[in-house]
Amino acid sequence: MAKSNDWGGPNRQWVIAEHPVTTLEARHFEYREAPVAEPGPGQVLLKTHLLNIAPVMRMYMMEGGAAGEAPLEIGDLIHDRGVAEVIASNHAGFAPGQFVQGQLGWQTWKVSRMTDAEKFRRLKPHGLPIHHALTVFGMTGFSAYCGFFGRGQPRSSDAMLVSGAAGGVGSLVVQMAGLHGCTPLVGIAGGRRSAA
Ligand SMILES: NC(=O)c1ccc[n+]([C@@H]2O[C@H](COP(=O)([O-])OP(=O)(O)OC[C@H]3O[C@@H](n4cnc5c(N)ncnc54)[C@H](OP(=O)(O)O)[C@@H]3O)[C@@H](O)[C@H]2O)c1
Repeated sequence: MAKSNDWGGPNRQWVIAEHPVTTLEARHFEYREAPVAEPGPGQVLLKTHLLNIAPVMRMYMMEGGAAGEAPLEIGDLIHDRGVAEVIASNHAGFAPGQFVQGQLGWQTWKVSRMTDAEKFRRLKPHGLPIHHALTVFGMTGFSAYCGFFGRGQPRSSDAMLVSGAAGGVGSLVVQMAGLHGCTPLVGIAGGRRSAA
């Protein structure tokens, strides 16, 4: 087991143990612990508060998976998004105490240069619980907004059929469509539990 340090480590991480072919199973994941690194020049130390479990991670985990970025290799950290607090900073753009959302990876600590590729965004102090940064104010909400308004170009009073309506993106599209005045508004869900 990795030693704790001044930051209260170790860094608890989930990495790929095996590439999935279809459904994900426990054997595809491996837990490991590592020391928490000190932030160097231009870097920040982030403490994870919340982590996302995005469906697209399965595609990144598949061998040669085509999901926008390079597929992950055995031993790589699952690089999903999350919400973190800046604990220490040598970066001019981020101060301790700030909260950010971005590509943290499934781990409890991250030292980062806050590169464009990690797509970190500061949470605005709007007084709402930080978990909204993973949903409506995160990538899920952004995807729903771009898909519905950007691609869909809906007119209010358009009839709307939303597939995957019980999911993260779909449930937000349903709410956007309702607020936009779309009617009738029908969602497709996989069963009674999802429909509820
Ligand atoms: N979340 C993001 O930030 C994001 C960003 C870009 C793209 N996407 C893509 O958007 C899609 C939805 O993502 P999400 O985050 O909303 O996922 P999610 O929360 O897991 O929801 C997915 C929904 O799809 C439905 N579903 C699952 N298998 C299905 C099947 N075989 N046939 C029909 N419906 C099925 C499920 O419906 P029931 O619960 O009713 O069974 C579930 O509610 C995914 O393809 C994802 O890769 C997501």
